[in-house]
Amino acid sequence: MQLLVTGGAGYVGGCVAAVLIESGHDVTVLDDLSTGHADAVPDGAQFAQLPIERAGEAMQGRGFDAVLHFAAKSLVGESTVAPDRYWHANVGGTLALLDAMRAHGVGRIVFSSSAATYGEPESVPILESAPTRPTNPYGATKLAVDLALGSYCGAFGLAAVSLRYFNVAGAYGRFGERHATETHLIPLALQAAAGQRAALSVFGGDYPTPDGTCVRDYIHVLDLADAHARALGAAAPGEHRIYNLGLGEGSSVRQVIDAVERVTGRPVPHAVEARRAGDPAVLIASGAKARAELGWAPTRTLDQMVADAWAFHQR
Ligand code: UFG
Repeated sequence: MQLLVTGGAGYVGGCVAAVLIESGHDVTVLDDLSTGHADAVPDGAQFAQLPIERAGEAMQGRGFDAVLHFAAKSLVGESTVAPDRYWHANVGGTLALLDAMRAHGVGRIVFSSSAATYGEPESVPILESAPTRPTNPYGATKLAVDLALGSYCGAFGLAAVSLRYFNVAGAYGRFGERHATETHLIPLALQAAAGQRAALSVFGGDYPTPDGTCVRDYIHVLDLADAHARALGAAAPGEHRIYNLGLGEGSSVRQVIDAVERVTGRPVPHAVEARRAGDPAVLIASGAKARAELGWAPTRTLDQMVADAWAFHQR
């Protein structure tokens, strides 16, 4: 397929674009490099350095079959202090992209949604039918786009799939997590193991979980890439499908630290500190719908995610 990948110079977009190219797709990356890196655009991709609002220029005369839409601002904390940036970039940017798709006859989209659309869950594992009550502007913008996609499918015959990622981790060769402001647990724990930071702060040791630390559902970026390929094939005109992407099992912050120590063979200096505002105690995906409807079966364990992230970190 001829694919336009927005945000393809970022962590998840770059990994997925690389996998799609390897499986024979023709990929054009659109990225403004505001948070992405030019050297993260995979070999074999064409590259349009443009803001999402100008996506129509990249579509001119190209006959794209589908768009994979990763481009977004994605820091939960930042979204609470600069929500305007999030609403403009994530919602305004996506509406501009959808306008361009309609103008250029591109009828299929796979969208990077988030577990943050659910907010604090009533029960886990979280089904796609769970209430959506985001607890921060980032999650609210992802939910707003999901709602827009639903109405565009109904009215305009768009084929859309929203993939709600849980905690993405791991790397694929030279494609990995490289954020200017790193807030994610696994890269920070690796930095502590490597001696690049004095200690990892464990945000809260008094949660109602077996070891008192927060539990998350970590998913390897390559398993995520496989889900995107399947979603592309499953998207159908007039339908908006939503799938949760996680392993369906939780790991606590302490279990992640143990995995990092096991994989790197080094201690992770850490200290338990106050809770971080807005962190739910437990987030675990139900992967049942993606398994049943997409035939998706993630295979990579937490140790594999940490090992691949460690190899990337050492490059
Ligand atoms: N944590 C620490 N210390 C740190 C960083 C994180 O203890 O230095 C803890 C957090 O409190 C949390 C867990 O590690 O319990 C994971 O935190 P991350 O920041 O790595 O990830 P989040 O679960 O907060 O957020 C991720 C994505 C978001 C997405 C969310 C939805 O990064 O984009 O999952 O589930 F919205």
